[in-house]
Amino acid sequence: MDLPLYFDYNATTPCHPEVVEAMLPYFTSTYGNASSGHHPYGWFAADAVESAREEVAELIGAAAKEILFTSGATEAINLAIKGLALAKNENKKHLITIATEHKAVLDSMEDLVRQGFEWTCLPVNANGEISLDQLKSSFKENTLLLVAMTANNETGNLHPIKEMAALAREHGVLFLTDAVQAIGKIPLNVKELGVDMLALSAHKMYGPKGVGALYIRKGSPKLTLKAQITGGGQERDLRSGTLNVPGIVGLGKASSLGLANQLDEAQRLSKLRNKLETGLLEIEGSQLNGSSNRLPYVCNVSFRGILGKPLLIRINKKLAVSSGAACSSVTDKPSHVLTAMGLDGPTAMATLRLSLGRFTTEENVDFAISYISKVVNDLRTAS
Ligand SMILES: Cc1ncc(COP(=O)(O)O)c(C=O)c1O
Repeated sequence: MDLPLYFDYNATTPCHPEVVEAMLPYFTSTYGNASSGHHPYGWFAADAVESAREEVAELIGAAAKEILFTSGATEAINLAIKGLALAKNENKKHLITIATEHKAVLDSMEDLVRQGFEWTCLPVNANGEISLDQLKSSFKENTLLLVAMTANNETGNLHPIKEMAALAREHGVLFLTDAVQAIGKIPLNVKELGVDMLALSAHKMYGPKGVGALYIRKGSPKLTLKAQITGGGQERDLRSGTLNVPGIVGLGKASSLGLANQLDEAQRLSKLRNKLETGLLEIEGSQLNGSSNRLPYVCNVSFRGILGKPLLIRINKKLAVSSGAACSSVTDKPSHVLTAMGLDGPTAMATLRLSLGRFTTEENVDFAISYISKVVNDLRTAS
């Protein structure tokens, strides 16, 4: 079977061969449990986990002791939000997010609303941007947490995280950013941004699936989390469960590769993305979704007046793209991100998100432009 060209790096990325190589011994020869403190098998595994913790910390400008390993960003986000809300927090019961957050955030909010919390969900404008004035006026006496993604997974929009973190701090509110789509691909530093917590995932940056991390700033007495998975007391009793040593080693390696390559790769990809976007926007009835401040490797374009389902079926024959978030593609609903930006249902459905990465070439981009143009034009003629 001829596989379609991969344009879905925001859904997941292939493991870098150096990541796989780093992980392999931890499946076969150095297979100890990192909690087995009485023999060398355990010591080697624990050392590998601590080295990976340092590599992740270095990528984001944190200290190793501020990194907590999880099974991915969904778990990190759940732990940050629910763990904070359900810890003793002086009756602070108000939470703020943005309407275009990932479902891991929105569903956590809904869970907490069912448990008596109050939630303000900030709207976005047609470009997917929030208003900082509206954010300012949303803070209340009892606001506990503000959550905002660094970069949106569907449009690539970058939020003003530094400004939002400063506002949160001014109002005595803690701040979590979901940095899954940006980490390891554009430079980010938690201290410069001023965030209290940050969630990241290995499989979006050429690491393995099923492993991620939560950065938790040290030194704030207000920042206490209640474990959401209890048991053996691993990860400072905040996340029990035998550590996924090969996965953690892979995340560490992916972090150091990301740190080494992110600037050059972002530059290379931004040229390709701009070419792709210019080509797609020449197609009749097309429109770009997103603001001018976006990740350099994501392109989200709608094609007004054609049906979404046949568009995606035809496109996916030759190009692996998605119409929204990968985890929502099993539903036939329009993307909540695009509808929050004001797109009507049919236009939101007739949308393609192309995300570029390590193996995307200029020839791939040229092919994508001509193939998408042909499919859209065929569908218009047929309708
Ligand atoms: C912005 C964002 N947040 C969170 C997640 C969830 O990450 P994971 O797959 O590690 O649970 C994703 C993955 O799709 C994402 O794109």
